[in-house]
Amino acid sequence: MATETQHAINTMLLEERRYPPSDDFARQANAKADIYDRDWQELWETEGRERVTWFEPFSTVCEWEPPYAKWYVGGKLNVCFNCVDRHVDAGLGDKVAYHWEGEPEGDRRDLTYADLQREVTRFANVLKEVGVRKGTPVAIYMGMVPELPIAMLACTRLGAPHTVIFGGFSADSLSGRMNDMECEVLITQDEAWRRGTTVALKRTADEAMDAAPGVKRCLVVRRTGNDAPMREGRDAWYHDLAANASDDPQTCPCEPMDAEDLLFLMYTSGTTAKPKGIVHTTAGYLVGTSSTHRYIFDIKPESIYWCAADIGWITGHSYIVYGPLCNATTSVLYEGTPDFPDKDRWWSIIERYKVDILYTAPTAIRSHMKWGPEYAQKHDLSSLRLLGSVGEPINPEAWIWYREHIGGDRTPIVDTWWQTETGMILITPLPGVTTTKPGSATKPFPGVLAAVYDEQGQDVGPGGGGYLVLKRPWPAMLRGIYKDDERYRSTYWSKYDDVYFAGDGARIDEDGDFWLLGRVDDVMNVSGHRISTIEVESALVDHHDVAEAAVCSRKDATTGEAIVAYVTLKGGNEGSVEKLDELRNHVGKKIGPIAKPANIVFTPELPKTRSGKIMRRLLRDVAENRTLGDTTTLADPTVVDEIKERATSEKTED
Ligand code: PRX
Repeated sequence: MATETQHAINTMLLEERRYPPSDDFARQANAKADIYDRDWQELWETEGRERVTWFEPFSTVCEWEPPYAKWYVGGKLNVCFNCVDRHVDAGLGDKVAYHWEGEPEGDRRDLTYADLQREVTRFANVLKEVGVRKGTPVAIYMGMVPELPIAMLACTRLGAPHTVIFGGFSADSLSGRMNDMECEVLITQDEAWRRGTTVALKRTADEAMDAAPGVKRCLVVRRTGNDAPMREGRDAWYHDLAANASDDPQTCPCEPMDAEDLLFLMYTSGTTAKPKGIVHTTAGYLVGTSSTHRYIFDIKPESIYWCAADIGWITGHSYIVYGPLCNATTSVLYEGTPDFPDKDRWWSIIERYKVDILYTAPTAIRSHMKWGPEYAQKHDLSSLRLLGSVGEPINPEAWIWYREHIGGDRTPIVDTWWQTETGMILITPLPGVTTTKPGSATKPFPGVLAAVYDEQGQDVGPGGGGYLVLKRPWPAMLRGIYKDDERYRSTYWSKYDDVYFAGDGARIDEDGDFWLLGRVDDVMNVSGHRISTIEVESALVDHHDVAEAAVCSRKDATTGEAIVAYVTLKGGNEGSVEKLDELRNHVGKKIGPIAKPANIVFTPELPKTRSGKIMRRLLRDVAENRTLGDTTTLADPTVVDEIKERATSEKTED
């Protein structure tokens, strides 16, 4: 007990399965074991030279004055040049950059690097016509159409910083971000496709522009072809202006940018406070994303890589657009949902393009688990050689399901930990080197120094649980919160001196592998034991009848906090009192009696944010019978009402 209570977070779930890389994979891998022996400054200096083409070389790799870092100081470069033009110059013009697949079936378009160069040039010329210059802030509010990466690259060609706002966000979220960044131009589209219906992006954009008067011009890309309201003098159809714009790259050269010039802002919504504009700059971001992309996903010249995230999130920025294009990769870009027109859509895409690398999120994997493996079985997935996961801790059972049913029990899985703030993956296996463990993101990427601290700032060392920190700067790290130095310091740099506080719980095992335990606010305190929600969730999902589980705590007079679990059963099954006992005992067996949920509520769906993360804050409100907090970031607000109803009718306790 004595040692346990010293730890900031106690962990009890034991996972003993091990997956060493196969000899064949290890032999051909981009990263070999000796990459871990390299000095961090030498590594980033070499990567800086090898991944990126410079207009002027950098003089210093890193200047570190906590909490602000500068990378590749003195260097001049252009991101669009690195992602597009130089590949065409090198003879890769005919290589496909994106196999785009629209949601309506049969809607397909291949863009080669030469096509991309022409389209980006044309777009940049149109942007110039509506007044965009180096430094003009541009907002982009679009779905997953080829014009989205084209618009982003066009901005970078001109040196105009962008902020991309995910197409599912409301008018308020859009105007708030545009006002904060003082955007002068907005790029949107008439409508987006989503699960067979249309979403009127331009209409929402109009509402947002009413509340963001700084936006003087709006470009509208045609997607569905339905009518969209247009305001004279402010709005223009992109295709009208594009008709007279040149696509000759000479007419719009790539602007030389300083290594530390602003590349983009990405807003992250906290649960209550105003969204933070996370600042990413040019050179470090490009080197960090392209090098991690190359080593972690083992990218080869012939790879067909698919990151199934949305470009509206950091994952899409770093690993659909900038990292892959900088590496001249061929990617798949898919517009729609995984279950349209049927639940095998993803697997048909993998079969058609012979995708060899798939990168997705645990929430998507759990949806596929819930639907059952038969959809994947209908397709030939033998082209896959590597799978990736990001966004949340992955439950060991979901990891195993992913490997068996999608990876043919053959592919390595890279569980990659990072954040909007980190810009690039920081904790991850290297697929030809690392022995993986289901549920562990394993080791810091070469050059990255991570640790787990207790409340007092002591390294807990192997076996201990606590708070994840980063002790050394890394190239793609955030350069601050836009216009809010105070909040930057207090959020990330005030808990411990000169060390980045990630806000996640973690533990390190005896082999030095990291196990991420979710956000610090997701830690429960039951009779003095600090238990992480993810461990109880993983124990529940380990039961063969459970598809998904979300766990939170409520106040309890005896134990301080008591555990409440919300459980979705496989195959749409309803719960029963017997099932409830069975699940409680299962958790007791996997973790220990202390972790048995006091309540279990069976529910067909869990409340999730639009990026697929479970909203435990709302579940806590339900568990404590409170009025619900902010529900605007929920993907489907009706889910909570259903859960509330079930929670009141199904209360049981020890
Ligand atoms: O809690 C961690 C979780 O997602 C948070 C970052 O979210 P966001 O900024 O939206 O970026 C998501 C894509 C990088 C982290 O603080 N998280 C992300 N990846 C993992 C993870 N938790 C556990 N394991 C992961 N692989």
